[in-house]
Amino acid sequence: MKTSLIIATRNQGKIKEFRELLSEFNINILSQPDFIQINENGNTFAENARIKALEVSGITGEYSLADDSGLCVDSLNGAPGIYSSRYASTDSERISKLLNELKNFENRKARFNAAICIAKKGKVILEVEGKCEGLITYLPRGSNGFGYDPIFEVLETGLTFAEMESEKKKTYGHRGIAFKLLKPGLNKLFEIG
Ligand code: IMP
Repeated sequence: MKTSLIIATRNQGKIKEFRELLSEFNINILSQPDFIQINENGNTFAENARIKALEVSGITGEYSLADDSGLCVDSLNGAPGIYSSRYASTDSERISKLLNELKNFENRKARFNAAICIAKKGKVILEVEGKCEGLITYLPRGSNGFGYDPIFEVLETGLTFAEMESEKKKTYGHRGIAFKLLKPGLNKLFEIG
């Protein structure tokens, strides 16, 4: 029987990215069952990823992959950080709020962080962290992706995440970078094919 890996999130944008990143492995990729409610009460991205992966793998008995990610803006002392998803109720409200908070700041430096944890039966198997440096734009640009993608310009490319095709976001994005670090461990855990 194929090994199952449960992605511990309800964010469809993240599930889509992980499905693409994991496509070469011969595994069943499932999303988190609706009945599981997780209290993300860690103080860091890594702690929150661990909490989610341990909870989902503990309840299901399967491998679980959790990512905790967010945008840290220098002029806002690292906010919204681990509170990125709770910063406002919708993506467009989160974007407007952030642009508004930054309207008097010339320093637009920011970074996306992603911590990924894989656990099985309540035990941590792999943990990594990836970062992507960039600038917060003055206006949204592009229509791909999700979340803060239209206002995050990647330093190395001059494009926002929302202006990139998914292949390019995989190369430069925080989750793609974290995933590369995870890859040697994944190759040992799962069959390719
Ligand atoms: P969590 O990791 O599910 O707690 O939420 C992370 C939040 O950060 C998401 O809901 C988005 O608002 C934001 N975020 C994380 N990764 C990305 C990304 O790749 N693009 C845009 N926004 C992101």
